[in-house]
Amino acid sequence: MAERLIELRDISKSYGHVYALGGVNLSVDRGEVVGLIGDNGAGKSTLIKILAGVVKPTSGEILIRGKPVTGWSAARSRDAGIETVFQDRALAVQQTIVRNIFMGRELTGWFGWLKVGKEIEEASRLMREIGFTSKVFTPQSIVGQLSGGERQGVAIARAIYKQADLIILDEPTTALSLTETAKVFHFVRQVRASGRSILFIGHNIHHVYDIADRFVVLDRGKVALAADRSEVKSAEDLINFMEDVAHPGGLAGLHDAGNAKQAAR
Ligand SMILES: Nc1ncnc2c1ncn2[C@@H]1O[C@H](COP(=O)(O)OP(=O)(O)O)[C@@H](O)[C@H]1O
Ligand SMILES: [Mg+2]
Repeated sequence: MAERLIELRDISKSYGHVYALGGVNLSVDRGEVVGLIGDNGAGKSTLIKILAGVVKPTSGEILIRGKPVTGWSAARSRDAGIETVFQDRALAVQQTIVRNIFMGRELTGWFGWLKVGKEIEEASRLMREIGFTSKVFTPQSIVGQLSGGERQGVAIARAIYKQADLIILDEPTTALSLTETAKVFHFVRQVRASGRSILFIGHNIHHVYDIADRFVVLDRGKVALAADRSEVKSAEDLINFMEDVAHPGGLAGLHDAGNAKQAAR
């Protein structure tokens, strides 16, 4: 059995009397890509902010490698090997790829001098590791000149440099074209091949369906479906399910929903 990297149990979060999350369970094993799907406002960002330690849950339990944690914080989350690329991602676009990868954790030597050559070498290695190669760009290219997909590559390379075991990507493909989305998928597959895990958030099923090993559908703060890829026949299957969830007619499960649709035709 694969190692259980993280587990959230019965997590709730309210903002005043708005329930962003109500009793959510979620786990990620080593080497898997979990797709977290849901409409705008479903609670996806809140959930990953809790994992990242920047938002405190109102109740619930967090387990890391099987052990419950106390005093969960952003620092603890990073120490546990969790790196998040937030939706409003913090890349310095006027800076080079290298500067962005090493931001805040520069390689320094004697008297704090930057080891620039070493950083460039290491940046190339990290970029190669995720399949981020280009005839046009070098580690010294300015991030602002990169496409959307490539910028995600920079953020992913930075997470790997920080020795992440789990990389959380919040809607990385939302503003991207198909070609750019394909680039991000390529990076994600390389990350998985290296034995790391990815929690991939999206609201477009097609963007998540092709990349995830497992799906978790959030609906208004609750898990509406958790299914392995093998249990979901197609992206359409997932979309049908989500439509049924959005317009509840008492349909309990994916297969029931699918059958009911068939019968209705
Ligand atoms: N800081 C906050 N204060 C108040 N309400 C919030 C805050 N953050 C999120 N919410 C609310 O929680 C719900 C879930 O939001 P969010 O987690 O951002 O959803 P998603 O990422 O799936 O679009 C929404 O109703 C949102 O308005
Ligand atoms: Mg969000």
